[in-house]
Amino acid sequence: MPSLISTNGINKAFGPVRALSGVTLDVPRGATGLLGPNGAGKSTLIRALVGLVKPDSGTGRVLGLDIASRGVEIRRRIGYMPEHECLIGELSAVEMVAYAGQVSGMTRKAALQRAHEVLHFVGMGDERYREVGTYSTGMKQKVNLAQALVHDPELLLLDEPTNGLDPRGRREMLDLLRFLARDAGKSVLLSSHILPDVEHVCDHVVVLAGGEVLLQGDMRSQLRGEPGVMNVRAKGDIEAFASGLATRGYSVDAADPYMLRVVTGGPETGSSDTGGWEETMTCDIMAAAAASGVQVRYASASVMHLEDLFMEIVQRGGGEEVGR
Ligand SMILES: Nc1ncnc2c1ncn2[C@@H]1O[C@H](COP(=O)(O)OP(=O)(O)OP(=O)(O)O)[C@@H](O)[C@H]1O
Ligand SMILES: [Mg+2]
Repeated sequence: MPSLISTNGINKAFGPVRALSGVTLDVPRGATGLLGPNGAGKSTLIRALVGLVKPDSGTGRVLGLDIASRGVEIRRRIGYMPEHECLIGELSAVEMVAYAGQVSGMTRKAALQRAHEVLHFVGMGDERYREVGTYSTGMKQKVNLAQALVHDPELLLLDEPTNGLDPRGRREMLDLLRFLARDAGKSVLLSSHILPDVEHVCDHVVVLAGGEVLLQGDMRSQLRGEPGVMNVRAKGDIEAFASGLATRGYSVDAADPYMLRVVTGGPETGSSDTGGWEETMTCDIMAAAAASGVQVRYASASVMHLEDLFMEIVQRGGGEEVGR
């Protein structure tokens, strides 16, 4: 099956700022999170995908359409929720959403009927007849989502849809998105700087930082071993055990007295791809344990969760808060 969104080496600079740097992506059907700290390039990427930002170089396709020449058609075919609201304050939600439907090529009658349906779906009652300018942020975001849904697109590109929402509004928004992705068969690209948002809705993830794609793939496979680190639970003379490990080139971090974090000292232990380091390290740990009369109860490679990885990226990249 062809990918829904694919890009090849997209670069985009704004003056001296490199907003996107060699972005090569392959986004499958389903729900994908576009995760990255503030300034990572998420909005620029989404705007490039819908033809609103022209890349300096590189190519891309959305639903098989070239982003350089088919922007209008792409915007008609997909549902796009921009970062900043673009609602007309004097219109009611019904008029606003119906207008968006007509812009996407629907007849006035069909657009009005759908406007009521999608506003009901996002949880708006009689307030849908009120002027949008009088709405709370949460209601405005719902109208934005309704606008993106009015023409029943198969693909939604949503730029930080939980921005500015209180915990309840955020939850409602995420539940709607999850329903759309899991039960209504929509494909979703959801940008956020909040990892739990992405975890709630998505099964794929793309991590962007400093304009570069740091990783992309299945959410579950983003659990990865930290090369050269094992967690060990041992019983007996821990000090003798630790010094035995030290003579074998390992350091022991006993931040948690019940679980030792054994870290390899030298680079010669190899890479995580081969898995070879794990076997070597296990042998060394067992040998040190035997020599010091310590019983090893548990030994396993330390697993790094996407969250740790994301925190590391945010800290390294000097991004702003993760917003948990
Ligand atoms: N129109 C523009 N003119 C100048 N610089 C821009 C423009 N658009 C984006 N940038 C810069 O490009 C970089 C990436 O911005 P972008 O808005 O794509 O990031 P983002 O990941 O969406 O961030 P946020 O989480 O804050 O929305 C930033 O350094 C930003 O200041
Ligand atoms: Mg943004």
